[in-house]
Amino acid sequence: MRRLLSVLLALLLTCATIVAPARAGTAREVTYDQYSLMVDGRRIVLQSAEFHYFRLPSQELWRDVLEKFRAAGFNAVSLYFSWAYHSPAPGVYDFTGVRDVDRLLRTAREAGLYVIARPGPYINAESTGGGFPAWLKTVPGRGRSFEPGYREAYREWLHRINPIIARHQVTDGGPVILYNAENEYQVNTDAAYMQDIQDQARAGGITVPITTNDCCDAGSWSSTWATGPGAVQIPGVDDYPQSFECANPGLWGPWGEGLTEKLRDDIPVFAAEYQAGAIDVGDAGYDRCRELTGPAFMKFFYKNNLIQTGATMFSYYMGYGGTNWGWLAQPNDVYTSYDYGAPITEARRLTPKYDEFKRQGYFLEAVAPLAKTDARTSPAIPDNAALTTAARANPDTGTQFVLVGHADRAATGADSATLDWAAPDGRYQVPVQVKGRDAHVLVAGYDLGGQRLAVSTSEIMTHAAIGGRDVAVLYGTAGSPGATVLRYSSQPSVKVLEGAVRAAYSGGDLRLDYAHDGLARVLVTGGGRRPLLLLIGADEETARFWRASTAAGPVLVRGTELLRSATLRGDVVRLAADTVAGEVEVFAPPPARRVEIGLGAAASQGGGQDAGHDDVRVTRTASGSLLGVTRAPAAAKLPELAGWRTRPEAPEAAPGFDDSRWTAADHTTTNSPHPPKTLPVLYADDYGFHYGNVWYRGHFTATGAETRIDLNAITGRRGNYLVWLNGRYLGSAAGGVQADSGDQWTPPNPDPGPGRFDIPAGLLRPGAGNVIAVLVANMGHNDDWIADDLRFKQPRGLVAASVGGTPVAWRIQGTAGADRLRGPLSTGGLYGERTGWHLPKYQDKSWKEAAPATPLTPGVTWFRTSFRLDLPQGQDVPVGLRFGGDPSPAFRVLVFLNGWNVGQYGGDIGPQREFALPAGLLDEHGNNTLALAVTAEQPVAGPGPLSLFAYGNVRGGP
Ligand code: GAL
Repeated sequence: MRRLLSVLLALLLTCATIVAPARAGTAREVTYDQYSLMVDGRRIVLQSAEFHYFRLPSQELWRDVLEKFRAAGFNAVSLYFSWAYHSPAPGVYDFTGVRDVDRLLRTAREAGLYVIARPGPYINAESTGGGFPAWLKTVPGRGRSFEPGYREAYREWLHRINPIIARHQVTDGGPVILYNAENEYQVNTDAAYMQDIQDQARAGGITVPITTNDCCDAGSWSSTWATGPGAVQIPGVDDYPQSFECANPGLWGPWGEGLTEKLRDDIPVFAAEYQAGAIDVGDAGYDRCRELTGPAFMKFFYKNNLIQTGATMFSYYMGYGGTNWGWLAQPNDVYTSYDYGAPITEARRLTPKYDEFKRQGYFLEAVAPLAKTDARTSPAIPDNAALTTAARANPDTGTQFVLVGHADRAATGADSATLDWAAPDGRYQVPVQVKGRDAHVLVAGYDLGGQRLAVSTSEIMTHAAIGGRDVAVLYGTAGSPGATVLRYSSQPSVKVLEGAVRAAYSGGDLRLDYAHDGLARVLVTGGGRRPLLLLIGADEETARFWRASTAAGPVLVRGTELLRSATLRGDVVRLAADTVAGEVEVFAPPPARRVEIGLGAAASQGGGQDAGHDDVRVTRTASGSLLGVTRAPAAAKLPELAGWRTRPEAPEAAPGFDDSRWTAADHTTTNSPHPPKTLPVLYADDYGFHYGNVWYRGHFTATGAETRIDLNAITGRRGNYLVWLNGRYLGSAAGGVQADSGDQWTPPNPDPGPGRFDIPAGLLRPGAGNVIAVLVANMGHNDDWIADDLRFKQPRGLVAASVGGTPVAWRIQGTAGADRLRGPLSTGGLYGERTGWHLPKYQDKSWKEAAPATPLTPGVTWFRTSFRLDLPQGQDVPVGLRFGGDPSPAFRVLVFLNGWNVGQYGGDIGPQREFALPAGLLDEHGNNTLALAVTAEQPVAGPGPLSLFAYGNVRGGP
């Protein structure tokens, strides 16, 4: 019966129309057909990018990043919700402060973005446990299945998160437009589980269409489960054609052509995760990942996908990567930075990839016929076989979209041709050139505002009706030829205001010929149409344009570093913009005569409290725009890091240390699918210690025959453990690892084998109490990528321990108490962490003065200093911490900023030397405390010197 009901429900939900529960004035309807999503019947091309709020623990900066998304022409943001981030223990959930996702969803709406909500329960994302809280490892039942144990646990999460998402749906006036169930669910799949996630969502008030993202180009879940239990309404596909080998940025589609498959006839093509960066698999550094997935890749692969598949739903992974602060990283693939080589860097700076997203995103937003196209035989034939074309057309308007690229997709040279183009308005011969690895989407037969574009071999970036005329921005590769033909009923007057453009009129066609070079400006008036200002530039020049909407219509701005929004009041255009010294040009409707640039949060909200503004003196140009010059930001002075104090710790190593309050590690059974190698069970998670370092103390009465201690710890990749006996340091060993495939205990991922620690002569006390102390790093939890349960549930901490058969009584201690503010992933179990040495209020006056570069002895040594910042008001200066010197494999450093664990350095944990200190955690106008916890495996010089640096400096900011 239950099954029948779910089938009926699934059938009901796969109908193409979702009628929203009405709420007066705000409710909207989300529907779809084979072409696109629709909101209240209006087609949209969904242009989304991924953002992880949990990788940016600063609510104000959420606004900054989301406004930057919107400013690049994205109309949506895709959000994973991390279960682990919110739940330190079963039944305990926190949605406050940096975990306030209500605020996140409000901010998305204020930024003008739709939201694809992705609460998992499993999310992957190179995050610890793939988003699963580590306490789930102790719960019976296979993860990602309908088995009891896991079922109750994931339902608990969904019961908490779904109502939050539900109250922010488009159907209730909010931003959430899609709900993503699970993540790349494949291999060990369970239809009842997929169905239950959706049933829970519907019961929790989710009314928008439900989607899922299939892995690996061939929809595994959705191809098997297109209908029936578990089927979603709009399945999508993930594509990562460039792979993740950032050390080899010259690669070109090693993982395929990246054409997103159409999974069903009744739904739009949905590129649910399309590659927009990469994890840094070979530790090459994220700049190389940005190169691997740079503008050339974007131009070729994204445009191919658009025209070859007709996709109208895109979500790019990642738009902004952020930071694996605390113990957020899944240990096998990533280190502290999750910059991802994304278009917006970890320090929130814009890159050439951002420019390319803007060119493409503005196009998708401005040219409405793109939302409904059918594939058709190309109407544009090149006279050079080195070039090839493919095409789509809108069946209602006839508008044609022609993709031009090299016939040899890997060709890197320039190829030119004349296109013989049978366009809706006539037949045209127009020049085209494709340089490098590139592709162009050209348009013909398009009603561009009040104009008729017959054909163009420039690409359209955007166009807007401003003050009774059309302003259009077209572009092409620098130096390449272009031609644009517009239709008029009589000969118009053409004024070339700037650049070398040849104009000829005949038979209703105004033909303009030019080379893309700098920025040409052409004013066309008369001819039976309203005036047109054409701005035709090379790629780089058009990247300087921004578009924003005001109540009085759109405005275009050229020259600012960013335009968040604009308002028009009387004759004043107020821009919420980031600026440096330079030209600013504003195309706004009359009566605009004056330009102001607002500074800070109030400016971006277009009113309210005034955070100050710059008046820009402007003059009117021949183009009808307002031109002025913006001020240079004031220099930002950053203090030197001095006055360091130090204190060694690890009293736990001493035999007399009082561990009577520690948890007795005496379990003889476990829910783990990995049987213990020795008893008692010593898995840290079984005793409630899930994140960061964990200590063990083992007490035994020696017989005198013991010669060595055999230990075996599983730490996750790049982890280690340190061992003492009766207060004497015996040495360290590498912890067990797990690569991202295979079994946990057998080759190719063997456990590390016992670490063998010989007992030095004279150290053992026969017939008396002896104490082993072990400090084990826990680098984070494996993901459950292929839903095999085993890798995720791989234990952390000691998995075997023996002292020649002598009984040992173990105690364990990890994180002490909850840190409500910073959440479950920030603080581990070092002595200094348990006693608050990382916290800003801690008094370190009694500590010895010493800089971090001083020689270290094995064990744990802390360093602290504080510094005062007073960054210029009304500016955005992202600050970072830089380690000079060499990152030794013999030490590993936890970096705490005002008590927040913002990263790990050294210990062979990635190539990173610079760590972002995000505003919000960083007090930009006050005192800050830095604390370093340095664990050394052997005598070694400490890390240093350390300095603060600015990633950038603009006027404006969030
Ligand atoms: C996808 C997955 C994402 C992320 C990405 C690689 O397969 O859905 O969560 O892991 O790969 O960065």
